[in-house]
Amino acid sequence: MVTTLGIVLGASLTLTMVALHFARGTEHATPDDISQKVLERRAESVHETDFPEPMNRSIGGGGAAAAVGGGGAEGELAEGDAEVDDDPAAIPDDEAEVYEVEYVKEGTTIEVKENTTLLEAGEEQDWDLPYACRQGQCISCAGHITDGGNSEQYVEHYTNEMLGEPELDDGYTLTCVAYPVSDFSIEMRESP
Ligand code: FES
Repeated sequence: MVTTLGIVLGASLTLTMVALHFARGTEHATPDDISQKVLERRAESVHETDFPEPMNRSIGGGGAAAAVGGGGAEGELAEGDAEVDDDPAAIPDDEAEVYEVEYVKEGTTIEVKENTTLLEAGEEQDWDLPYACRQGQCISCAGHITDGGNSEQYVEHYTNEMLGEPELDDGYTLTCVAYPVSDFSIEMRESP
């Protein structure tokens, strides 16, 4: 009698525990995809920007912040670059390098500073040299560097809207926007 009662009680208890287990299990409805919801929530908290972002920016990743922090020096450099005026004419006279330039047709070699165009240097000698726009937009002031190879080995063109690589390769230059970066010889009044 006692044994039968024990078995009945044990079975009832077991059934009750099983029923409670399943009942509790259904209380927590787990989203199908937790990670997707987290990513969407993070993306909503990240403001849009006007510049390209690293891939992980869209999910609020810390990688972007780490990259900026880690590359602080580079960031400052990039900003600095944007502010630098790369116009050779802006180089102070007392800091400008000086180069020997032979004006072949004039039969003279003169010193030309890196902040002075070949046209200006010639005009300072009172030579009557041709020009029109003085902005690299025509070809009136063209000259030919006779040392061989691309003219930009010898001069820096501040602007150049006329000469393509073939003409530069042949040694042609726009003297109104050409600043010397080396010694060389040039024939003025020579167009490609
Ligand atoms: S004068 Fe026009 S490009 Fe030099």
